[in-house]
Amino acid sequence: MKHKIFAANWKMYKNPQATRDFFKKMISFDLKAEMIFFPSALCVEAAIEATKSSNIQIGMQNTYPQNEGAFTGENSSATAKSMGCTSVLVGHSERRSLFHENEILADKVQFVQSIGMKAVFCLGETLEQRETNQTEKVLSHQLETGLSKANSENLMIAYEPVWAIGTGKTASAAQAEAAHQFISQWLEKKNFKKTPLLYGGSVKPENAAELISQPHISGFLVGGASLDPESFKKICSV
Ligand code: PGA
Repeated sequence: MKHKIFAANWKMYKNPQATRDFFKKMISFDLKAEMIFFPSALCVEAAIEATKSSNIQIGMQNTYPQNEGAFTGENSSATAKSMGCTSVLVGHSERRSLFHENEILADKVQFVQSIGMKAVFCLGETLEQRETNQTEKVLSHQLETGLSKANSENLMIAYEPVWAIGTGKTASAAQAEAAHQFISQWLEKKNFKKTPLLYGGSVKPENAAELISQPHISGFLVGGASLDPESFKKICSV
């Protein structure tokens, strides 16, 4: 049986009270699945408190790659770790496109791993890149640069085609599987140990079962459909 991982990217949604309300409901379902939630940094403390006696893990959506220092407006995953966080998203497409993150991603992955947290490295192609047959080239480049200082301990990958994020357009199971297979071969070539590969991009209760049945898909990174406990429960139950 496949070990499945269900991650939830809450982006800039929910306040601390909505976070507490969500987890009260989510914990009442008593799901056994591996679940990691990425609330906004301002809600991490509420999330940690609310999930204390459960199997739910909490992570950060971003980090600055230093323990501490004069970096106004940034957050350190070292602080998050001291609060109980286990994982950090690195390289989400919104960080890449809206905040122009690129070269810094390798340092972020390295920093997260160096403090014993799990880096969830996100990558994916745009629609234009897919339509001009550049998907594999783009994925290789993102892997080469983002993972140049990484090791295979404490690593997860989330393949998220940019054109499927928040658009309601999901990659077909075959498209997602092909990209996951490509990433998995790349990792093998670089001697990375078995790394969980999550799919993200408009995952919903309606398409989760078909996607998870693909051999190289080990779980999901879910945005919109993770904001409602009932809908996320259905996804975690596939
Ligand atoms: P979505 O977001 O599920 O709303 O498409 C996924 C993500 O951005 O991680």
